Amino acid sequence: MTQHGATKWADVDPSAITHNTSLIKQLVGEKTAVMAVVKADGYGHGAAPSARAAIAGGATWLAVSSVTEGIELRKAGIVEPILNLGYTPPSALSAAIAAKLALTVYDREGLALLKTAATEIGVHVKVDTGMHRLGAAPQEAVQLAIDVDADPNLRLQGFWTHFADADQDPAFTREQLHVFLDARSALIRAGVTGFLSHAANSPGLLRFPEARLDLVRAGLILYGVRPVREWADLPGLRPALRWQTIVTNVLTVPAGGSVGYGRRFVAREPARVAAIAVGYADGLHRHASDRGRAIVRGVAVPIAGTISMDQAALDVSTVPGVTVGDVVTLIGEEGGATLSAHDLAEASGTISYEVLCAISNRVPRRYL
Ligand SMILES: Cc1ncc(COP(=O)(O)O)c(C=O)c1O
Repeated sequence: MTQHGATKWADVDPSAITHNTSLIKQLVGEKTAVMAVVKADGYGHGAAPSARAAIAGGATWLAVSSVTEGIELRKAGIVEPILNLGYTPPSALSAAIAAKLALTVYDREGLALLKTAATEIGVHVKVDTGMHRLGAAPQEAVQLAIDVDADPNLRLQGFWTHFADADQDPAFTREQLHVFLDARSALIRAGVTGFLSHAANSPGLLRFPEARLDLVRAGLILYGVRPVREWADLPGLRPALRWQTIVTNVLTVPAGGSVGYGRRFVAREPARVAAIAVGYADGLHRHASDRGRAIVRGVAVPIAGTISMDQAALDVSTVPGVTVGDVVTLIGEEGGATLSAHDLAEASGTISYEVLCAISNRVPRRYL
């Protein structure tokens, strides 16, 4: 049903996030903390509601990708420790300190910047073990961590790395972990202790128990989606988001008639076509034109023709009785049919992560 006249919405079930977090917590055990990765607006689920739900499920840390995202959580009243996984620009430092964000450091410039603040800051030093994006080379990271530890204001809270391919390349992942653990040993040999070691994202924590260490950084699986659709890990995971819209028009297209821009869909025989109120400006990737599906009246039907900015069309020839106002499900379960974020990702030529993050602000989130 539409509420307040909405023609599209995403229902988010925070209790699913709480449940998924508690499954992750059970999996990793008492000694390993769970950091809930709620960057990118909680992978499209809403950062603050996702953070609260994950904390209720046993997460004790939160992760964001920028100072701005961290401040947003603080403004929402969230008091738990928050790590900025990304770069902190000099112009954002005082705001980051005021918000009591823990900050990632991976080079001398970053460390020098934090020292200028001359106030207490929690620091996580990032080691580059093969991702070659952010992170200091192992030896340099060890020295940075030693220097952080020696500073009277800075607190070395974490020493961490990030896997490049934990869902597909076990050998490379193990090599990354090996490099990381060697660096950690060097740090401990230098007399530095009392920090959290962390490496594992969702695929890492699921498939490499030895990589769970002191803390895991769980993103995608918090939201009930596995990194690889064929994986059956954590069978109880529950997807937390359902994306729906409505039928806005139903028409018969005669044989030879086309639908939408570019006349990509041409009816071979008379076709029943339903327009829906979601387009690429809502996050329905244009690549899913003629490839994706949506559920109407419990049947998964194909997208017909080119997805436009605000609308798309479905071929509902096989579904009797489709009428204006019928609810259409793009991600979720309805009437016994299910379409997952993976289904939409495959049709869109991308990954489930992107499909979820791409659902735009124009789609109101409704919290169950
Ligand atoms: C540094 C870092 N850690 C953890 C995660 C969480 O990854 P996942 O969603 O696979 O759990 C991300 C997400 O991209 C990340 O960038």
